[in-house]
Amino acid sequence: MDHSEASWNLFGKYPLVNSHKTCHKSTVAQDTVAAILSNDRPLIRGVAVRVLITDLDLGDPGYEVARLERELGAQVRVARCASEAEVLREIEEFDPHALLVQWAPITAAVLAAASSCRLISRVGIGIDMIDTAAAREREIEVRNVPDYCVEEVAGHAVALGLALWRRLPQFDAEVRAGAWDAATGAPTMKRLSTATVGLFGFGRIGTLVGRAYAAMGARVLVCDPYATDIGYQRASFDNLLRESDLISVHAPLTDDTRHAIDGAALARTRRQPILVNTSRGPIIDAHALNGALRDGTVSGAGLDVFDSEPLPADSPLRTAPNTILTPHASWCSREAMPALRAGAVQNIIDAFAAAERS
Ligand SMILES: NC(=O)c1ccc[n+]([C@@H]2O[C@H](COP(=O)([O-])OP(=O)(O)OC[C@H]3O[C@@H](n4cnc5c(N)ncnc54)[C@H](O)[C@@H]3O)[C@@H](O)[C@H]2O)c1
Repeated sequence: MDHSEASWNLFGKYPLVNSHKTCHKSTVAQDTVAAILSNDRPLIRGVAVRVLITDLDLGDPGYEVARLERELGAQVRVARCASEAEVLREIEEFDPHALLVQWAPITAAVLAAASSCRLISRVGIGIDMIDTAAAREREIEVRNVPDYCVEEVAGHAVALGLALWRRLPQFDAEVRAGAWDAATGAPTMKRLSTATVGLFGFGRIGTLVGRAYAAMGARVLVCDPYATDIGYQRASFDNLLRESDLISVHAPLTDDTRHAIDGAALARTRRQPILVNTSRGPIIDAHALNGALRDGTVSGAGLDVFDSEPLPADSPLRTAPNTILTPHASWCSREAMPALRAGAVQNIIDAFAAAERS
């Protein structure tokens, strides 16, 4: 492909300022691109913005393509990349100015190859599949859709936690097997108002989860080194592990949180906690969790996210006791789906339309 018309750089020589206001958060400054793009440098008109959709598992990408073409006059290429090599091949052939990314790995090598790329729009909240440090170095803006499914994920996390707290999987299995014996379970079941719920991560989703448990009388502990004004008792990671009857994970996946809950962490728990993870699988060491479920260190696990998705057929978690597994479904609702798709496209349109206006 001839890239001669692509010699312009959308952001030109103007530096990207503060592309991540808070590097620990997945939320990214929403006004940054527009601010940079409105600098007074020529934007080449008549050259279509090239948008590469690296991957999208939300159905037909016709909506994204149509809006980008209609509202931005963009040239859109739809790919189904799963690996770095596949993304690199698409970038080599298409030389995009913007990437619309769901799960494809946007590594330092990908960003080095994407010399015309000025914007990455993540179709989702977490941006852990993007090397944000490399993006920052190359002055490539990263945007996400921070608010499309907060109540869905919070509701899902609380549902998993309460289902395990109330022994719903066991009761359900017993009734189906012909038993009718509530009293047998009673001695192992505690009133929620006697429980301590530990939140690992207290952003948009964690805040809502905390509110739900507090409303039902639980004591809430918060472990989040960056959160301010939490309104609950702050806990170190160690205290969270030691004091919680239920640990709900709501931190993003970062270098700091990857395998934060490993075998050593699980061994420091004292109350055979229930573990709920709707955030990202690799925050918990799955091998260690499997062992802890089987030896009773952990009394149950509600998992929506996994190291490898889909969950491999031979994953031992499939047969671990007191476990509820869902297929990365926390975000789902009929309202969230269109909000997600619209938000991710809008991030690209806003950025490039602002450039056009300048
Ligand atoms: N399963 C799903 O369908 C689904 C959907 C949306 C989001 N998610 C996941 O949920 C995560 C949280 O979403 P959110 O909207 O609440 O994000 P958020 O950015 O509002 O909150 C994340 C919080 O984690 C905190 N944090 C960062 N590093 C930490 C650390 N080392 N220890 C403790 N806390 C730390 C941050 O300070 C922040 O308060 C996302 O990053 C994403 O991975 C999952």
